[in-house]
Amino acid sequence: MGRFSKILGAESPNYVRDKQGHDGAETVADGPESLIESVKDTPALAKKDRRKNEAFSSPEDRAQALESQIYLHGKLLDEIDLSTLEGLSESEMRRHVSVVIRDLIAKENRTLNRDQFNELVSGIINEMVGLGPLEVLLQDDSVSDILINTHKQVYVERGGELELSNVYFASEEHLMRIINRIVATVGRRVDESQPLADARLLDGSRVNVAIPPLAVDGPLVSIRKFSKKPFTLDKLVEFDAVPDGVAQFLAAACRARVTILISGGTGSGKTTLLNALSQSISHKERLITIEDAAELQLQQPHVARMETRPPNIEGKGEIRQRELVKNALRMRPDRVVLGEVRGEEAFDMLQAMNTGHEGSMATLHANTPRDAITRLEQMVAMGDMKITPEAVAGQIASAIGIIVQAQRLSDGQRKITSVAEITGMEGAVIQMQELFNYTRTGTGPENEVIGEFRATGIRPKCLHEITTRNIPIPEGIFEPKVLPIGRIYEETIAERIGHDE
Ligand SMILES: Nc1ncnc2c1ncn2[C@@H]1O[C@H](COP(=O)(O)OP(=O)(O)OP(=O)(O)O)[C@@H](O)[C@H]1O
Ligand SMILES: [Mg+2]
Repeated sequence: MGRFSKILGAESPNYVRDKQGHDGAETVADGPESLIESVKDTPALAKKDRRKNEAFSSPEDRAQALESQIYLHGKLLDEIDLSTLEGLSESEMRRHVSVVIRDLIAKENRTLNRDQFNELVSGIINEMVGLGPLEVLLQDDSVSDILINTHKQVYVERGGELELSNVYFASEEHLMRIINRIVATVGRRVDESQPLADARLLDGSRVNVAIPPLAVDGPLVSIRKFSKKPFTLDKLVEFDAVPDGVAQFLAAACRARVTILISGGTGSGKTTLLNALSQSISHKERLITIEDAAELQLQQPHVARMETRPPNIEGKGEIRQRELVKNALRMRPDRVVLGEVRGEEAFDMLQAMNTGHEGSMATLHANTPRDAITRLEQMVAMGDMKITPEAVAGQIASAIGIIVQAQRLSDGQRKITSVAEITGMEGAVIQMQELFNYTRTGTGPENEVIGEFRATGIRPKCLHEITTRNIPIPEGIFEPKVLPIGRIYEETIAERIGHDE
């Protein structure tokens, strides 16, 4: 009983603000009707609420029903014996909580319609086993990122743009409880001595937590939601993120084991592109993925996934990407896929790419393909290898075939803004040629970016790898011109390049 009240506190059941930004708790004091309004703002609940509103004949009825709901929520805290719920499945728990609520309604002689009843049950279960107020956002498929800036404020990203959501937490303690529930699933906890943590939600969403004293005003949580159905290359073409011809060329290069590096800023769509490209890898190959927090969803039957381990509280037991890359090479991979290359593992990854693991892939934070090379050079230098800068450049030039640049434009659109090929070395300098690019040509009425994709007119060296394997690429794709966007063919890219060799 005690623990239950601790989890819920004497808090309002819906941590959702109304349009004016008032807290749910305050709105209740203002008048219950406005709480109904505030719940209606949440897209996931919109349909349900429309029904609910129809169910009430007058504002008085609505007010009364809502008052019941809030009263019952408080009352429930005293009635439920939490220990009886432990170890139950969610549906059993729902049944149990429903019974208690039903009894309570009868005892109190109150009325609640079906939607309100279900909502009350869900709210309570979310607090107990789920992530409380966050559940609404996690279930909303239009939300891609959730950014919690202290318990008072939660931003979300929808369609590439950030907006303030109407969700909030009752207090810092409430948020900390939810945070510790998140990190506990990966066997960690956060406190003053361990104020930073990476974790993963059960659905695969990636989470980063920073709490005071590092976070100045209160806990900060960033969640990259796991896309239930990862984008295919065809979907990216439909979204005008890349022209059809370029997407088919990249898929063909990937199939032909040209090593591809995906470069881009934070949230520019690197992981999405990596997932999509992986579709074109032959199903006969064995892939090993290495990530800090596993989020890749490769489309292959034979994928071995590995994840790094942070140090424990005593600072021991850390397993870094570098060790995993080295270990992966003893696991007979055909290709190694590194979620993000960030440091010393760059050297081992390049070696792998140069020694029979062609077609390996990685993403990296950089603003241009040229910048990506500089970053790689710096990363190898960080690994204190006794190797000259020229030798490093040589390794990079022979390891990497293509660099694809992903970018999030100012209006939130994500696009492939450049595809460049590494052609070799001239002296100590890596030579590169751009095959395709995206150029902004104007601004639309809603401030949207208008631009065009162009082929530069250069035929890539790696074309040989592709054509000798009889992998088709579109006619005339490298001729200098503006490339058409959108789906051109009935057949998917995967169908066009063939499923297997
Ligand atoms: N072309 C696209 N159109 C629309 N949404 C996209 C596109 N590409 C990616 N997204 C969405 O953008 C978000 C960020 O994508 P992704 O995780 O691939 O970025 P990232 O560059 O790997 O980010 P990070 O640097 O944080 O790892 C995801 O929610 C994804 O679904
Ligand atoms: Mg990523």
